[in-house]
Amino acid sequence: MREKLGFLGILWLFLMFNSSFGRFVVEKNSLKVTSPESLKGVYECSIGNFGVPQYGGTLIGTVVYPKANQKACKTFSDFDLSFKSKPGGLPTFLLVDRGDCFFTLKAWNAQNAGAAAVLVADDRIEPLITMDTPEEESASADYLQKITIPSALVTKDFGGKIKKALSNGEMININLDWRESLPHPDECVEYEFWTNSNDECGPKCDSQIDFVKEFKGAAQILERKGYTQFIPHYITWYCPDAFILSKQCKSQCINHGRYCAPDPEQDFSTGYDGKDVVVQNLRQACLFKVANESGKPWVWWDYVTDFAIRCPMKEKKYTKECADQVIKSLGLDIKKIDECIGDTEADVENPVLKDEQDAQIGKGSRGDVTILPTLVINNRQYRGKLDKGAVLKAICSGFQETTEPAICLNGDMETNECLENNGGCWQDKTANITACKDTFRGRVCECPVVQGVKLVGDGYSHCEASGALRCEINNGGCWKDTRGSQTYSACIDDHSKGCKCPPGFKGDGVKTCEDVDECKEKTACQCADCKCKNTWGSFECGCSGNLLYIQEHDTCISKDVKSEVSWSFIWVIILGLAATGAAGYAVYKYRIQRYMDSEIRAIMAQYMPLDNQGEVPNNVIP
Ligand SMILES: *[C@@H]1O[C@H](CO)[C@@H](O)[C@H](O)[C@H]1NC(C)=O
Ligand SMILES: *[C@@H]1O[C@H](CO)[C@@H](O)[C@H](O)[C@H]1NC(C)=O
Repeated sequence: MREKLGFLGILWLFLMFNSSFGRFVVEKNSLKVTSPESLKGVYECSIGNFGVPQYGGTLIGTVVYPKANQKACKTFSDFDLSFKSKPGGLPTFLLVDRGDCFFTLKAWNAQNAGAAAVLVADDRIEPLITMDTPEEESASADYLQKITIPSALVTKDFGGKIKKALSNGEMININLDWRESLPHPDECVEYEFWTNSNDECGPKCDSQIDFVKEFKGAAQILERKGYTQFIPHYITWYCPDAFILSKQCKSQCINHGRYCAPDPEQDFSTGYDGKDVVVQNLRQACLFKVANESGKPWVWWDYVTDFAIRCPMKEKKYTKECADQVIKSLGLDIKKIDECIGDTEADVENPVLKDEQDAQIGKGSRGDVTILPTLVINNRQYRGKLDKGAVLKAICSGFQETTEPAICLNGDMETNECLENNGGCWQDKTANITACKDTFRGRVCECPVVQGVKLVGDGYSHCEASGALRCEINNGGCWKDTRGSQTYSACIDDHSKGCKCPPGFKGDGVKTCEDVDECKEKTACQCADCKCKNTWGSFECGCSGNLLYIQEHDTCISKDVKSEVSWSFIWVIILGLAATGAAGYAVYKYRIQRYMDSEIRAIMAQYMPLDNQGEVPNNVIP
């Protein structure tokens, strides 16, 4: 026991020593008081390392300081206090005092009492610190993962001002703003995950592995598509020279005390040693290096989750053999990875672990990494719960606006702002199409793509389909109506834009096309005998008496036209027959005459010569 504490003491000192030279950066967001006038302004607060800060977003609320339980170490229901906001009211930000219990317990109690965020007022005058989760493995630690409200530490001075204003009966409205908590310079987000292969360190290790499993899918999509550049990192310590040959350093360190990790069970006599952890960490770092060289850095996520599932310490499978099986199943080159690990007993530097130790020291805006696990996004340390939704939200807020990938806009990231009043965006209720899209930045109004047809418009007041199939979608945003079996549309299915009322209608073609009353407007059915009756989209024209309406000529003509024609035809035939008969008779008479004539002539010819003899038609008489 003494031995163990002694060694941990050294490690701890070491960490302290490192930190005193480095810099621990407190990640901040801004807190803006919008009322009262006397407090108006922007104040700094530090983001708690638990709960879900709304990276990329804002939260507006009104501050309440509880009458009792002001340190929030007990549940508020014991005091009959509730901070649930009333319908239509602003969410409640609960101001509580620092001290007496863990920050996390304060947040948990505030959340259970209905607060939307918790502001902890510092109890001493000092620069802001990061409120962290308790290191101890306590029985109640399971609530840590259930904290979903954001938390912020404010200075003692600012806390005092709020309390004073509240006691004067003033209403204090605050806008918590995380939009600038992470830099978002371009369309690629660089992030690092400082982790550990140790799976026996209690709730912290469990939640770390759960996070990796849960986040793997998103991480791989982002990496494959080139949206992110991810690097895993591992913290190691080194053994002070004086202790290199001690039993402790020998069991905790590799490469002659150069790279050490604490004993997983914190007991040197049983189970795995610290050096087993260092070697597995090194294997993971090497695997990433080899996978990255082969152009597939995202395989690291597969390896780490598979290793955690297949090779846990609990089942005594935390071994090279087990690790190699996983590596083999992922099709990676074991030889290259072994080369990268090198001889861990040798008194030499390992280039990979050397780089890891160098990377631990803060650079630029990042600060030293001292909390395990730690996520660093765009060179800033992420604060909050390690949870898929919360981390994705933070990564997404690291993209330059409008360059964020689709995964940032999918279901997991929804803010559900579209549910209320459709987020104020354009929608077509009958076609069930909306321009409202929930994103991690809040809702955006953007004309959607429906069945492959892109709608265009401002997304707020109008969206309309364009292109060849535009009338298929929401009728191209044009007017359309059906009555009975009649349907009229103002959309013309060609490549043109816009809407035009069909013939027989007038209007803008978008919202309305009104039937034209052709009768009243005197555009049709205007002949003297016409009787006009307007119908929807057209008109009916009747004619008085036996007349028929001919639309092309807008005129009435007699219905008997056809029979008159036939009667006159018959008359023509009768007359024709009569004429033929008469003619026949005339011919007959003529022929008789001619016959008689020729007979007489023949008789006479016997008596005297005739000069036109040849004329006698021999064939005339049948
Ligand atoms: C991963 O590979 C790319 C290209 O091969 C290289 O530019 C990058 O530095 C590598 N990253 C790490 C962390 O080794
Ligand atoms: C509208 O569409 C959404 C998904 O696109 C669906 O969940 C919802 O039930 C639809 N509503 C109606 C009224 O059809």
